[in-house]
Amino acid sequence: MRTQVVIVGAGPAGLLLGQILHKHGVANVILERQTGDYVLGRVRAGVIEQVTQDLLDEVGVGGRMHRDGLVHEAVQICVDGARHRIPLKELTGKTVMVYGQTEITRDLMEGRAGIGAPTVYSAGDVTLHDIFGDKPRVSYQAEGKSHEIACDFIAGCDGFHGVCRASVPPDAITTHERVYPFGWLGILTDTPPVLDEVVYVRHPLGFALCSMRGPTRSRYYIQCDLADDVEAWPDQRFWDALKPRLDDEARARLVTGPSIEKSIAPLRSFVAEPIRFGRLFLAGDAAHIVPPTGAKGLNLAASDVRYLSRALIEHYAEKSEAGIDCYSERALARVWKAERFSWWLTMLLHKISDNTFDRKIQLAELDYLFRSKAASTAFAENYVGLPY
Ligand code: FAD
Ligand code: PHB
Repeated sequence: MRTQVVIVGAGPAGLLLGQILHKHGVANVILERQTGDYVLGRVRAGVIEQVTQDLLDEVGVGGRMHRDGLVHEAVQICVDGARHRIPLKELTGKTVMVYGQTEITRDLMEGRAGIGAPTVYSAGDVTLHDIFGDKPRVSYQAEGKSHEIACDFIAGCDGFHGVCRASVPPDAITTHERVYPFGWLGILTDTPPVLDEVVYVRHPLGFALCSMRGPTRSRYYIQCDLADDVEAWPDQRFWDALKPRLDDEARARLVTGPSIEKSIAPLRSFVAEPIRFGRLFLAGDAAHIVPPTGAKGLNLAASDVRYLSRALIEHYAEKSEAGIDCYSERALARVWKAERFSWWLTMLLHKISDNTFDRKIQLAELDYLFRSKAASTAFAENYVGLPY
């Protein structure tokens, strides 16, 4: 079998890349290790930048997002029981969309099924061959048989634990990493959101986040220990830990209920450099990870895909290598700014240590953020997404 681009991974990065390439006549096959249902079962991102929305619109899968998604003109930050509103739209002219990654993935999967482009789910033992040669290949197992696809390029959209980055010779790649000594415990509930805007909470007991997926579905997170196990967190314990971190009004409005999903995510900052190796390109979480505090992971996956798809389309249309040669540098320039923002917001809002100096610095910086229009604007510009 032969195609132009083999895409490894059917998360948001792989599906979006496949959709854009197909629209521009570039043939591609997606290989995904899991089943489609498993991919749809992962509850992750919720806040979508305007530029990510534009990409979904460009490939014709943004309809349901515009119908069911919630346009947010502000976010709120609650510090030790006092809530402050940052008016994103007033400060930047831009808004964000609250719409779940699960729904985006579903829209992209349906879009792909609609155009009849090939996706192999439950593809086992995906292996890359000859990435530095002219004729790369990808082999895999499906339905008990071995298969191999010859291609021009391979797009590694297989997330942090995927095979693509791991296939690169160690001396060709540099990695930069910071691991945080805490994680997020998240729950999804069929209860109305506590407020109609996303609330980030800094509190001596630890970070919390109140988000939503719609008028009757809420998503809450609290800072937890890395050693924590979801089994040790029955719903009541979660609500008991969340409530004291909120301000009085939010606490009074909070509607609790049974969780329909509960999971722990470790927090990590990570960047691989470069993200092009011969005929292999990494995109999304395969190339970099941000802690979710800035809501940037999915949005960065989309921005990588934008740069990569433009480069590949240009290659086929104009026989030009220019975009391909610049991909790594261009994509990483935007990635590093989001890494900085996500790291900064993580350090500002989490309980980092028992050191009172750390706490006082956080409070001073937050006070400055709320009082200074320049500081609020800098926050807002990063939160709504920096221009490409
Ligand atoms: P993934 O979604 O990880 O997809 C990779 C795919 O590759 C998977 O389907 C996987 O099964 C497949 N795969 C892996 N290995 C192989 C293999 N060997 N062979 C074949 N297939 C393979 N981002 C935001 O922008 N906004 C937010 O609000 C936000 N909130 C978040 C909240 C939480 C709690 C978490 C954990 C993340 C959040 N993110 C957020 C980050 C976002 O979810 C990720 O950045 C995003 O999923 C990255 O997409 P991706 O396609 O690069 O990778
Ligand atoms: C979410 O709704 O899941 C969400 C919102 C904001 C974040 C991270 C996750 O920063």
